[in-house]
Amino acid sequence: TNRTFTMIKPDAVADGNIGGILKMIEEAGFKIIAMKYTRLTNELAGKFYEVHKERPFYGELVEYMSSGPIVAAILEKDNAVEDFRTLIGATNPADAAEGTIRKIYAKSIGENAVHGSDSDENAAIEGNFYFSMSERF
Ligand code: GTP
Ligand code: MG
Repeated sequence: TNRTFTMIKPDAVADGNIGGILKMIEEAGFKIIAMKYTRLTNELAGKFYEVHKERPFYGELVEYMSSGPIVAAILEKDNAVEDFRTLIGATNPADAAEGTIRKIYAKSIGENAVHGSDSDENAAIEGNFYFSMSERF
């Protein structure tokens, strides 16, 4: 068993898709270990996405991720990181496989409904960014 970290991004929250996305996550066998409804400031979004700061879309990404509330969660499952990225699909919904969360809910490569950690190491860093010890079960 291991863990990954996810966010339901501002576009999906604004569109009323929290429930639909959590249902897909639970039906795929992920257990919710920690969860919160919150909003990133511009500064915190900049920190969260610091690894992307040299990329051309960084400013747009930080603006977007601080534009409204999100849902952050830590998820547990065998092979969590890889299986979750399979469940969410490609970054660009135009390339995402049928039945994936981004195929169903994402609007564009930027407003793409969900985040999924890309490694065990980043899953731990990202989970710790949002949740203290007493909020993780
Ligand atoms: P995350 O799970 O959110 O990390 O997505 P990812 O791993 O599939 O993509 P990546 O880490 O490369 O990019 C992080 C986020 O930046 C994406 O999820 C998008 O929201 C955004 N992003 C990536 N590429 C583009 C782009 O070309 N234009 C814009 N506007 N946003 C982008
Ligand atoms: Mg990524």
